[in-house]
Amino acid sequence: MSIVQEDLAVAPGLTWGLRAVTEAAARAAWDCIGQGNKCQGDRAAIDAMGDGLDRLGINGLLVIGEGSQEESPRLYSGERIGDPAQPPRYDIAVDPVEGTSYLAKGMTNAMAVIAMAPHGSLFDPGPAFYMEKFAGPPQVRGLIDPDSPVEEKLNVLSRTLGKKVGELTIYVLEKPRHRDLVERLHRAGARVALYPAGDVAGAVMAAIPNSGIDALMGTGGTPEGMLSACAIRAMGGEFLGRIDPQLASEKLAVLEQGMDIQRWWRCEELVTSDQVHFCATGITTGLLLEGVERCQDSEKTHTMMVSGTTGERQFLTTYHRLRKAGAD
Ligand code: FBP
Repeated sequence: MSIVQEDLAVAPGLTWGLRAVTEAAARAAWDCIGQGNKCQGDRAAIDAMGDGLDRLGINGLLVIGEGSQEESPRLYSGERIGDPAQPPRYDIAVDPVEGTSYLAKGMTNAMAVIAMAPHGSLFDPGPAFYMEKFAGPPQVRGLIDPDSPVEEKLNVLSRTLGKKVGELTIYVLEKPRHRDLVERLHRAGARVALYPAGDVAGAVMAAIPNSGIDALMGTGGTPEGMLSACAIRAMGGEFLGRIDPQLASEKLAVLEQGMDIQRWWRCEELVTSDQVHFCATGITTGLLLEGVERCQDSEKTHTMMVSGTTGERQFLTTYHRLRKAGAD
């Protein structure tokens, strides 16, 4: 039975279908690791992910894509997947390469990511490119006031997780905008895991109890925030997001759309259904996933699959046989 014939609520097979899509994207990007060209790797992964989505045979709407149609002729936000004459059944969020410039530099944490939920359940961030985020494990759900000072957030984490502040590790993107946040975390005695890129991995790790990361704080991409919210909605955990424009043009566009940049959105508001499916396949080895490994006759991939339908979180290592040129 094709996935399109199944009901999402009873389709554990959907996650299995999605993993083929992220695996294809990650494998396509492999050739571009460390080659210095960020567009090349992205393009290869976009094409592979687009082909993979077409093969799923679903009718969906890309709510979170690769930007506008002008920016990306394939997998753009608003693109219809499947038969445009049919109403979409699914909302889809994609990031064929999460960490494009770091893929080009051969650095850590690049991965191919996708999420899918019933149509109408994903928040559409419109022109918002940046989002301030808090992610943490299930124990802190509903306990964090996102507007409270960082020291207070650390106290709540410390109390709830039964760890001293000095034992907490907070994932933060290493960016100039986070200098003050990092200083305050250090002053309070917390450990800071600073990564140059890849806050989907950081948010997902933060939501997994005892992963070594206790929370994620700071501002990163809105698409990445939505993908993190999907993963955390599906597996449990806390995610809070606030539209946080970093560029004057972005701020103008966001305000023109009437978006409230003070408002914090809860995970259940960003992703209103728990029937959400998430998959990520490592391209370069990072905190969450191993990268693609190519051997003489096979390619190894490492994928995380989360199903909100079954409540399962799985890690899958797959060996893909490489066909020799000319072989049938
Ligand atoms: P890209 O794939 O677009 O390069 O995103 C990588 C990333 O590090 C995300 O994980 C993060 O959310 C975002 O960039 C932060 O954006 P910026 O590097 O512009 O601060």
